[in-house]
Amino acid sequence: MTQIITPQPGIMDVALYQGGASHIAGQDNALKLSSNENPFGPSPAALKAYETAGRQLHRYPSSDHAELRGAIAEVYALDPARIICGAGSDEIITFLCQAYAGPNTEVIHTEHGFAMYRISALVAGATPVEVCEHERVTDVDAILAACTDKTRLVFLANPNNPTGTMIGLGDIARLADALPPKALLVLDGAYAEYVEGYDGGAALVDSRQNVVMTRTFSKIYGLGGLRIGWGYGPAHVIDVLNRVRGPFNLGNSALAAAEAAVRDVAYVDHCRSENARWRTWLADGLAEIGLPSDVSLANFVLARFSSQQEAEACDTYLQSKGLIVRRVAGYKLPTCLRITVGDESGCRRVVHAVRQFKEG
Ligand SMILES: Cc1ncc(COP(=O)(O)O)c(C=O)c1O
Repeated sequence: MTQIITPQPGIMDVALYQGGASHIAGQDNALKLSSNENPFGPSPAALKAYETAGRQLHRYPSSDHAELRGAIAEVYALDPARIICGAGSDEIITFLCQAYAGPNTEVIHTEHGFAMYRISALVAGATPVEVCEHERVTDVDAILAACTDKTRLVFLANPNNPTGTMIGLGDIARLADALPPKALLVLDGAYAEYVEGYDGGAALVDSRQNVVMTRTFSKIYGLGGLRIGWGYGPAHVIDVLNRVRGPFNLGNSALAAAEAAVRDVAYVDHCRSENARWRTWLADGLAEIGLPSDVSLANFVLARFSSQQEAEACDTYLQSKGLIVRRVAGYKLPTCLRITVGDESGCRRVVHAVRQFKEG
């Protein structure tokens, strides 16, 4: 019998990541509200920087990302030496699992947590441990109860995707302070910029040795297609992650676009306030039609239907109207649909279509 090579333990347990759909068969102008992208796209300054950097495609990019780290540090008042950049925050999550998780260790994530935590833990050979949330909100006590001496990483998205809910910094500090000594708390701030006055946990990182923050350019910065994210952590963690990171993990154009994007603070402020305005409008509009949602702090709303059947029928109806939203049964929320906050016309279109669906 022919022998074939087999992968490392854990890898065949990975269910392939299901991204948000981007096309509807037969519809050329479908509106994509399924991947939490910025409806306004990136800052014009980022687009310009991207085009200029495109003239240097024969050159290898910077390997230390000093300019981008410097820009992030200036804008967010952080220590540039303790920033690491990756191909999306997905790559930072992967580095953390590669570096700290492995066979005979455990990686905690919450019930409705982002899918990549489980995938990256399995790929590293670790055991993912899912912890219940309380009514779609992170439960710090449940996380602490799930910790063992095998726990190495605790992933917490705040605000969380796909629920949109978040917990306060006091609760997060309590969690960090009670973790087992060998465990790191990873605060995923993919949606942190949408929350007025929230530092994503940066101050907790500065005051502790066991907290790491991840951030992305894919959401409010509108650069999901370029794959840029970053992490901020204690010096000992960033040193470890840089040993795992490939030297040229980000291209020239991505680095240049991200640097210009982070410096365009006025554009980000504009996107944040538009999002807040239309998020409220969208959530209120859906509630009026009988679809409640938790207060979302992110750039999407998780609409709750009376049954899985109704949620799926609404999704099918929306598709027939050229609207793509996200089914979240894979996140253990089969009766919900996650709808990204679009611009004014996108929000109006989606509420109008859901109302038509409800009126039958
Ligand atoms: C909570 C959360 N973390 C991380 C990511 C990954 O973002 P990226 O790899 O594009 O930076 C996402 C993307 O949807 C997310 O929702």
